[in-house]
Amino acid sequence: MNFTLKIWRQASQRDQGQFVTYRIDEISDDMSFLEMLDLLNEQLIAKSEDPVAFDSDCREGICGMCGLMISGQAHGPEVTTTCQLHMRSFTSGDTITIEPWRADPFPVLKDLIVDRSAFDRIIQAGGYISVNTGAAPEAHSVPVPKPNADRAFDAATCIGCGACVAACPNASGMLFMAAKVTHLGELPQGQPERASRVLSMVTQHDHEGFGGCTNIGECSAACPKEIPLDVISTLNGDLRRAMQHKPS
Ligand code: FES
Repeated sequence: MNFTLKIWRQASQRDQGQFVTYRIDEISDDMSFLEMLDLLNEQLIAKSEDPVAFDSDCREGICGMCGLMISGQAHGPEVTTTCQLHMRSFTSGDTITIEPWRADPFPVLKDLIVDRSAFDRIIQAGGYISVNTGAAPEAHSVPVPKPNADRAFDAATCIGCGACVAACPNASGMLFMAAKVTHLGELPQGQPERASRVLSMVTQHDHEGFGGCTNIGECSAACPKEIPLDVISTLNGDLRRAMQHKPS
């Protein structure tokens, strides 16, 4: 397979950046998208050119490090992570546009790498439980009804890749934040800090410059873990109750 790649090149955060066109040939349809970029980089290095900078770690769809806007879609044409996307999802001869996530709270550091530490600060603001866990407790010592356990587990599959923000016209981080709020709010261990958690996380989210949710749903459609949109309803419910009981 042969492709024309239009890749965003930006030397640093201060650089203006531009698209640069590359041609790449003899790509196997079994290759992953990142392997295709690896091959391009080998060719660039062989010509003493600067390789394209992009993020990845596990390459198994687990860590959330990878994330590219591929021809206008977060993570490309499949509902999966960029590292799990394969070249068979494209047609030989295609022109593929590759950009970093575009959102003010995710500044571009170099080429396709963005700084997603805003997500870390939202988690630091409240995405945890403050209990002494000690040794692993007996599995049945804290009963959790199955529907709650299932919903907590589904929400916990969020890998924090940032596709939701990149796909949202408002650059909202609500789906990410709501996944964390729902995950902890469904479990007994998450109850003591439930109100303070949502207040702190929403405050930090807004402080970082993420936009508000207007129920467009692009976030959930782009999410490689298919986090459902209704976690945002859970967050809004928690936020309303927390605001009502907030000491004035
Ligand atoms: S590199 Fe870990 S999810 Fe893609």
